[in-house]
Amino acid sequence: MKEIDFALVEETRPPIYRAMKYVGKKPHNIWREYIKNYTPENGIFLDPFTGSGVSLFESFKLGRKSIGFDLNPLTSFLIEVTFSDFNFLEFKEEFDKIKKEITEDSIYKEFFSTTCPNCQKPAIAQHFKDKNNVIFEIGVICKCKKQKFLKLPDDVDHRKKIKSAQIKLKNWFPDQKFPESESFTKNFKKKLDGNFSNIWTKRNLYVISEIFEKIKRQKNGNLKKQLLFGFIQTIHLCTKMSVPRDKKSKRPFSTSWGRSAYLLASRQMEMNPIYLFESSCLGKQSVKSCLEYASSYFEKKPKIIEVSSSNKNISNNNFDIKYGIIDILNITDYIKENSIDFIMTDPPYGGLVKYFDLHLVWLSWLSNIDKKYYPDFKSEITINSEHSNLETYKKRFLKSVQNLTKILKHDGKIVFTFHNKKLEIWNAFLKALFLAGLKIEKVIHQENKRSGESNVSMPYGTSAADFYIRCVKGSNKKLGSSSDFEEFVTNKAIEIISERNEPTPYQFLLNGLLAEISQVGFDLDNFDQNIQQVLENEINKIFILTDNNLNKAGNYWWFKDPSEYIKFPDKKLSDRVEDTIVSLLRRKISIELHEALAEIYIKYPNGLTPDTRSIEKIIEKFATKSGGKFHYKAQDLEKDYTEHTENLFKLITLGKKLRLKTYIGKREQSENFKKKKLSEYADFTDLNFLKDFDKRAIKRIEMIDILWIKENNNIIASFEVENSTNFISGIQRGSNLNIETPKIMLMPDKRKKEFNNNTDPLFIDQFNKFNWSYMYYSELDKILLKDKVNLDIFISETKKYEKS
Ligand SMILES: C[S@@+](CC[C@H](N)C(=O)[O-])C[C@H]1O[C@@H](n2cnc3c(N)ncnc32)[C@H](O)[C@@H]1O
Ligand SMILES: [Zn+2]
Repeated sequence: MKEIDFALVEETRPPIYRAMKYVGKKPHNIWREYIKNYTPENGIFLDPFTGSGVSLFESFKLGRKSIGFDLNPLTSFLIEVTFSDFNFLEFKEEFDKIKKEITEDSIYKEFFSTTCPNCQKPAIAQHFKDKNNVIFEIGVICKCKKQKFLKLPDDVDHRKKIKSAQIKLKNWFPDQKFPESESFTKNFKKKLDGNFSNIWTKRNLYVISEIFEKIKRQKNGNLKKQLLFGFIQTIHLCTKMSVPRDKKSKRPFSTSWGRSAYLLASRQMEMNPIYLFESSCLGKQSVKSCLEYASSYFEKKPKIIEVSSSNKNISNNNFDIKYGIIDILNITDYIKENSIDFIMTDPPYGGLVKYFDLHLVWLSWLSNIDKKYYPDFKSEITINSEHSNLETYKKRFLKSVQNLTKILKHDGKIVFTFHNKKLEIWNAFLKALFLAGLKIEKVIHQENKRSGESNVSMPYGTSAADFYIRCVKGSNKKLGSSSDFEEFVTNKAIEIISERNEPTPYQFLLNGLLAEISQVGFDLDNFDQNIQQVLENEINKIFILTDNNLNKAGNYWWFKDPSEYIKFPDKKLSDRVEDTIVSLLRRKISIELHEALAEIYIKYPNGLTPDTRSIEKIIEKFATKSGGKFHYKAQDLEKDYTEHTENLFKLITLGKKLRLKTYIGKREQSENFKKKKLSEYADFTDLNFLKDFDKRAIKRIEMIDILWIKENNNIIASFEVENSTNFISGIQRGSNLNIETPKIMLMPDKRKKEFNNNTDPLFIDQFNKFNWSYMYYSELDKILLKDKVNLDIFISETKKYEKS
């Protein structure tokens, strides 16, 4: 089997995943790749924390037997509605009926009307924006205008708002206290009189409970679920937690539940629920778009089994999809030992997101339809001061992983996605894997386009990133004492920074370190030490911190004495990334951002991953953007390459005249000159024959433009042709050769001034120290015209650097 050993690029979500909000939704295409790769065609896939259902849907799409559990009842609801038979005409008819009834309701008419500032007749209020409870803007829908428009409130509007608090509710609504949880602060509860239903204003609660009542009378079970689906996409957008969007977004008529937390802002947006309901049912991201898409997304109707404590179905394998509201701590009652081929799952990351609390907005209503939709708060794996602390989290998490290990086949694999900036949570996670008898096979730092669970709280550099941790059954070797840990962390940090060969912000360092630390297998009792602390102890000994004025990533970590730690210098990471992008552009001419990212992720994994936010800027240096694609600026850049190639050819020719063999650099080998590839003119295309060099050094040396080689396989001169590229990068690679080896920089005559004015002290120092000299194109041309040439004379005609 081929392993997935690098990060993948997230694609845009199809409509089936866009309707419903679920914090921590995973990138569907990446998960699909994993499931496809690691679940055999007739095998069984499981995700015990399936959340929004992405994993389950993708696995079913791939034709694997798919099990998706989650203790959150919303998951079951989403699975049920996604696979329900959808008849749009029936659905639309029912929606229209509800809308008509609501808009004819006298209370609705009174409280969601306003005077049209244009025609002075009664019009509909689409929203009220208020600050500290006073309306400052109203969205208006009136027949006299084709579009919605905005107005300032008048006295009547203000009075109606006050009066609306007295509305008598005649239908059922979730009249309940807040659960005991830190998600609801004292202050929040006090402002809402201790009752959950007060997250909605009276007039909104009136309308949504009317809509709910009308949905409840529906006899057709599918249709009822689909209307409820529209309903739950509506109700979180008409609470007091909805905020007006930023002016810059230019969307004055829409809102969002800003922070996905129970917070009351001073500016609120009171939406007219019936219009929200309309767009949730029929709009761009709606029940309609989701379910219509689903029917073509899945090629067949699944055979579905729902399991529950009264109906465990443990031996029933005759299914396409098995789902249920199952606590992972009981999962072994539902799934046999050694029966699952592949598990991929995204467990709760400590207490980062309290799913059940958040989802109470929806579940409080759904559970009135069916009690099974009320969440079992006590069993949620999370950290919440009221009923589960770090210790309970650890215990439950360990038991979860032990259960998963039990039901996994002996040769099966588990991939966890995880991130938490708190090391104690990482520790709990890793420890659970070890104690459950799992061995980490690979850790990949995976960028997400948006909303990973970690996205909520991550600083620069890891925002929207997860680790993908691939495990197999097996035991780990342990590393002993805390000094081992310190040494390991320090050495790995040195390795990462020197591999990057550029000052590096801590976040990037940490991404690489966490992957390494997780992979190696520590006695984790020593792991609670702060990585940052360990490294900080080495500041001004090994490392120095330098200011970062470029972005918000924080100070750069660099070496106090770079030459002591960078044993095999390469170009700076950012220059290498640039090279990679240019070579991709030259190959493909037009590229999309995701293609560039894919290439970068493969070439530069984990600690080597550059700041992906900078990639687009780099591409724009070499390409013009149009129609979502980047098109290579060939006319400007190819000329450089042609000149560069031509001069390499000349060096090969001269080498031949001197009866030397030539090696041409890895990157240049495929360049064309006079209808042949440069590699065809050269004698060697790899340097595996070099005996006296470390493998890592050979890798760098192979990137040097030209080497002249003697019979006895010794390198006797090396060349970098700097047609337009920056002078320092060639120097860095060259220092992997012996100091004595002559290193020659060849450049166009027109760069004379630029070269001589070089003030970089590092450049000057290294140029002289590593035995560099230089020569201009015209000088090489003259030498080539001579009948007789001699190596020593040639070398002596190159010039040493003297500061002018
Ligand atoms: C990070 S989320 C998964 C999100 C999912 N990957 C997606 O793409 O939507 C973690 C999930 O664990 C679930 N969970 C928490 N405690 C659980 C328990 N004891 N048993 C099963 N699931 C639980 C939560 O409901 C939540 O959906
Ligand atoms: Zn009007």
